Amino acid sequence: SDSWSLRPIFCFASFLVTLHLVYGDLSYSVPEEMKRGSVIGNIAKDLGLDLRTLSSRKARVDFEGSSKRYCDINLSTGDLTALERIDRESLCGKKPSCLLTVDLVLENPLELHRVSLHIQDINDNSPKFREDLIEMEIRESAEKGNRFSIEEAHDADIGQNAVQRYNLQKNGNFILAVDSNKVELVLENKLDQEKQKELNLLLTALDGGSPQRSGTVVIHVTVLDANDNAPVNWCD
Ligand SMILES: *[C@@H]1O[C@H](CO)[C@@H](O)[C@H](O)[C@H]1NC(C)=O
Repeated sequence: SDSWSLRPIFCFASFLVTLHLVYGDLSYSVPEEMKRGSVIGNIAKDLGLDLRTLSSRKARVDFEGSSKRYCDINLSTGDLTALERIDRESLCGKKPSCLLTVDLVLENPLELHRVSLHIQDINDNSPKFREDLIEMEIRESAEKGNRFSIEEAHDADIGQNAVQRYNLQKNGNFILAVDSNKVELVLENKLDQEKQKELNLLLTALDGGSPQRSGTVVIHVTVLDANDNAPVNWCD
């Protein structure tokens, strides 16, 4: 019908109106996990409006599409305050930047401001290994320089707050080699099953946050006799 053919024109017209209504943008840097009621910034000051105008023009925030109301305006102070805990990890995962946009609406005349909330990572997660214990069997015939790979630790945080280094408890046989997150035990001194049938090595992963957080795993090494037969898999 005719109304359908006019649709694109209406859309374009309303787009122009919306465009016209969007005034200066505001941008704030917000650490994640802020307490409810914490002040993000002062809307009145940043828009150059007095508090009475802010009230009479019914300033409010609008979260199109989002079920959560992350912030609110306190009309008696003009402050934009945190209303809901913001967890950067669930919002943006490993993305290096995390942006939340909010519409600030003023009435009479209708005025729309886009408010950008740049959510900053805080070090609220520790490095974690998948298991608490890693079991390894190493034959005593293993040569100096042989490498044994260890599953790396993961940290939900980003940048400096993610895993930065590893620390292996001092021991007589192994040292650690870490290369772009590939973690390996390197045999420095040969194992001797007569002297030691098993050993426990504590491996710690550390992040670079402040305060620093860490996670540990115990590597339990069983030393196998050089003469033991390798287990046979009859299905091969
Ligand atoms: C607004 O701020 C004032 C002054 O800090 C405070 O007393 C009041 O409780 C706040 N109102 C709301 C709704 O948070």
